[in-house]
Order: sequence, then C-alpha cells, then structure tokens
Amino acid sequence: MVNHGMVLSALEKVTDPELHYDIVTLNMVRNVAISGDKVTVDVALTVKGCPLHQKIERDVQEAVGQLPGITTVHVNLDVMNDEERRTAFARAFQQSQKQRASQSAGATRAPTMPGPQGAAWSPLLAEESRTVLLGIASGKGGVGKSTVTANLAVALQRLGFRVGVMDMDIYGYSQGRMLGAQGQAKANADQKVVPWNAHGLSIVSMGMFVTDNQAVVWRGPMLGKMMQQFFTDVAWPDLDYLLIDLPPGTGDVALDVATRLPKASLVIVTTPQVVAQEVAMRTADVARRANQRIIGVIENMSYIPMGSGQRMELFGSGGGQELAHTLSVPLLGQIPMESSVREGGDRGIPVLLSAPESESAATFLQVAQKIDAAAHV
Ligand SMILES: Nc1ncnc2c1ncn2[C@@H]1O[C@H](COP(=O)(O)OP(=O)(O)O)[C@@H](O)[C@H]1O
Ligand SMILES: [Mg+2]
Repeated sequence: MVNHGMVLSALEKVTDPELHYDIVTLNMVRNVAISGDKVTVDVALTVKGCPLHQKIERDVQEAVGQLPGITTVHVNLDVMNDEERRTAFARAFQQSQKQRASQSAGATRAPTMPGPQGAAWSPLLAEESRTVLLGIASGKGGVGKSTVTANLAVALQRLGFRVGVMDMDIYGYSQGRMLGAQGQAKANADQKVVPWNAHGLSIVSMGMFVTDNQAVVWRGPMLGKMMQQFFTDVAWPDLDYLLIDLPPGTGDVALDVATRLPKASLVIVTTPQVVAQEVAMRTADVARRANQRIIGVIENMSYIPMGSGQRMELFGSGGGQELAHTLSVPLLGQIPMESSVREGGDRGIPVLLSAPESESAATFLQVAQKIDAAAHV
C-alpha cells in the first residue's frame, strides 16, 4: 500500500526547472490524496501562467506513477498566494545556503543568513531609505550590460541625481575600466571601504580587491557574500540611485539577488537576437516569481546608424520589443551600435561624456528619464 510519505518522497524527485529545488522543499505541494490506486496531487505554482507548468505536471505524474500499484495520477495546478510564495523563496534560499555551506566546507565558510535581511546590511537598504536600487540584468554576457550600467549612471547623474555603481559581476567586473577608475581599495577611519570616485559617481567593484590580472576563481556561492560586503563594508554616501551591474545568468544568481535585495527593481538588457531574448526571458521569469519589479527592457546593439535616419540591423530586429511584450513591461529604448560607445568604455569615459551628440548618448538620456519616471511609482 502506498502511503502519504511515499508519495512525498517521490515528489522530492521533481524539481522546479527554473529554481532547481524540489517542489516539496519549495512548498509547492499543497495536498496529497490517495484513494486505492489513484493519487491526486495539488500543486501550487509560484506564478500564474508559469511557462513551465506542463513540465512540472508531467514530472509529477511520472514520479508518482512509478510507485507500486498506482495506476492514475491526477495533478491539480493552482497558484501560490503571497504568503506561500514568501515561504517558497525563503526555503529555496535556506536550501542554497545549506548547499553552499557543504560545498565550501573546509574552505571559506559560507555566510549563514536567513531570508531577506538586507536592511541590516546598510542604511541604503532600509525600508525608509529613498535610494532606488536598480539591478541591471541580462541572460547572457556580452550583450552590453556593463556598458548600459555605466552610461545610465552618467545619464542619471546628468539629470541631477547622486548615483552609485555597484559592480556585482564578480567574474567579469569591468566598471573600473568603463568609468576610468582604478586603484586598490582604501579604508576610512571606520574601516569601511571608500568607493572609487569617477565622473562624480561612487563606484565599488571587485577590481578594487584583486591585484593586476589576478583571476577571480570564486564560484557562485561567493556571490551572496560579496553582495553583503559591498553593502556593509562600504562607506556609501547618500545616494538617489544605486545601479547594480549583475552577473549574467539565470537561476541561482537571479534567485540570490531577488531574495537578498527584494527592494531592487530590475532593468533587463538584451539584443535584437531572438536567442538573447529567450535567455533574458528566463532571468525575468525568476525575478517575477520572486515578486521583484521589472521596470523595463533595454535593447542594445539594435542597429548601426547609417546617416540620414537610415539603420542597418546587424543582429536582426524585434527581440527587445518582443521580450517587453512578453513581460508586459515597456521597451525603454534601443541603443544603437556605435564605435564611440565601445571606445568610450575602453577609455573610461562613457559615450554620454565623450560623444554627447551621438545617437547612443541621446538614447541613454531618454532611457534614464523613463527610468526615473517609473522608479518612484
Ligand atoms: N551599443 C554599443 N555599441 C558598440 N559597442 C558596444 C555597445 N554596447 C556594448 N558594446 C561593446 O560590446 C562589448 C561587450 O559589452 P559589455 O558592456 O562588456 O557587455 P556585458 O557586460 O553584457 O558582458 C564591449 O566591448 C562594449 O564596448
Ligand atoms: Mg559586464
């Protein structure tokens, strides 16, 4: 005879395709009913219209159907309420902490922090803080996420705001180069790291902590720890905006950010290519499940301006618009591909300062205005 515990054990083999934890741990199994050779499982999805619901349903049927004597498995799908969703993410977070602790046993001790508790990290994260936290995310690398971060930072500053940049891309840190800042981290009298200052921006990056060309071999588990230190151990001034250049990737990284910085809104950078758009969609999906707000999509490398309004669409077209449409958020802008953008990044003077008359500079300013209009709603 199959009992309740056996069904739950079987269900522990079913993982959520995006969050990579089993559906029991994730609090997705609401109820299990056994009647003779029939089992009914009520599953609550983290988000309505979850694109992966069919896979979850199939996997549940397969896992439970393998139990001896079970002929029919019926799956009822529903959607979590806010409370259930919070529990789900807290559990996934705890699980990731456990895995980290065991992965790094004997090496660096992983931080053991329960759920979201960012407020203790820094006044910037406190509920009453007016600082807008803006994560700049992309599904994959090379789409121009860091370039967009640097230029948006300058653009928001141009609009009169106090702006900080946190380079959380710990493997591919590049804000020092892009914004022309360098030098080892220096501590103030309170033993806090003083951010780099360049173009009037306060910048903190992994680049402050590694000596020349030293490869950063830290793996994902270190990300949360770095993020915490970039808040607690840095003497951030009062800021209107803190832009966070996030590492590319979906799943764990996005979950980490969403759990630790629930207050942060996201901007998703993609290219016109459909492949880039699909990967970005997965990042966005995790953010949405964590109830993290997505302000909009920025399409980068959209076209090459050919003069007199002519555009050459090198990487196809429509990716940004389609992604924005799928996510029901605005397409904030299409940044053209211009050599001045790349040169600006290489020289440490963002295009907004080095070629303010360029089409990309104008677009970055418009995007910053749209972000500011949306950020306080
Ligand atoms: N709009 C653009 N026009 C020209 N070059 C760009 C543009 N956006 C990014 N690049 C260049 O593409 C490369 C990758 O950009 P980067 O911002 O480092 O991407 P990511 O941070 O997503 O990995 C860099 O050399 C950058 O200068
Ligand atoms: Mg980058």
